[in-house]
Amino acid sequence: MIPHPIHETLFDEDTIHKRILELVGEMKDDLRDRDLIMIGILRGSFMFLADLCRELYREQIHPSIDFITLESYYGGTESSGEVRIAKDASVNVEGAHLLLIDDILDTGRTLDTAEKYFFNKGAEQIKTCVLLDKPERRVVPFEADYVGFTIENRFVIGYGLDYDSRFRELPYIAVVQEEN
Ligand code: XMP
Repeated sequence: MIPHPIHETLFDEDTIHKRILELVGEMKDDLRDRDLIMIGILRGSFMFLADLCRELYREQIHPSIDFITLESYYGGTESSGEVRIAKDASVNVEGAHLLLIDDILDTGRTLDTAEKYFFNKGAEQIKTCVLLDKPERRVVPFEADYVGFTIENRFVIGYGLDYDSRFRELPYIAVVQEEN
């Protein structure tokens, strides 16, 4: 049995769901009537993307969906500072309108790298959406078009976010308590 780190809930399932409905309200008119490709940045975005695309469906928005695996975290809570493509998306993005989805905007390196990468591959327009934003931690100046919640500089887990590859399955977002 793997012990969970001591953590306290920051956003429960209901709060996340309500905010996703609001986000869809914010983005639906920007995305409608477009041949839209939603690209989730793995691994953290899988749960958020799954919930978001089902609410977009209820607004008659039917994107293609693909994923790219970018890596910048190599265990624990420390970033290496370098982002690399571990697994590319397979969809052709030339001339396409993209909606890039990530779990959290932290230093900004991941989304900045992803946006530049897809523009280089010929995407015509890119919108970005993150569930969480930690503006205090920004190293690369990057703002997402749609942000679920702005949070302080605390390490969070759950709802796709991991601690050493675990706890992604938690249906809520929690703050990890630092051990003394
Ligand atoms: P950058 O720094 O590139 O970070 O904007 C984006 C990626 O960093 C990871 N990240 C976290 N993962 N709890 C996590 O589990 C956190 O508090 C956290 N902050 C950043 C995450 O993989 C994200 O995609």
